[in-house]
Amino acid sequence: MNIGNDTIERLVLEARRAAEKAYAPYSNLRVGAALINEDGKIFTGVNVENASFGLTVCAERNAIFSSVSNANRTIEALVIYTPTQTPTAPCGACRQVIKEFSQDALIVSVCDSDNRLVRTIAELLPSSFGPESLT
Ligand code: THU
Repeated sequence: MNIGNDTIERLVLEARRAAEKAYAPYSNLRVGAALINEDGKIFTGVNVENASFGLTVCAERNAIFSSVSNANRTIEALVIYTPTQTPTAPCGACRQVIKEFSQDALIVSVCDSDNRLVRTIAELLPSSFGPESLT
């Protein structure tokens, strides 16, 4: 699938909208994520924190788990939005989970300034361990 600018901008809107639903009373960092799969379906997720901090789940993983729960196991592009002045890169755990379901997804971090971080998952997670490591 060829990911065009229109698709990325649509994902930006979805990620921004999703972030309003984030549950982040401890960090106050409300994160939204939106991904598109090879069929053009979009799934969103938000970070969900917990009083037992270690149980917090990031927006990216919640978007991916929502996608997989609906029988969509591919990621072509994923946008992460944070209401900050600099873009937020996905954490290491999320990079590993993105890798599980994508060949070389485009990962775009956006924020409230024009500053964007645009990387492929291979750039974010080089020399990785993945499904192919177990075949
Ligand atoms: N967070 C995400 O949702 N995605 C990331 O890639 C980085 C961190 C969330 C987890 C936690 O709720 C808050 O941001 C602060 O770490």
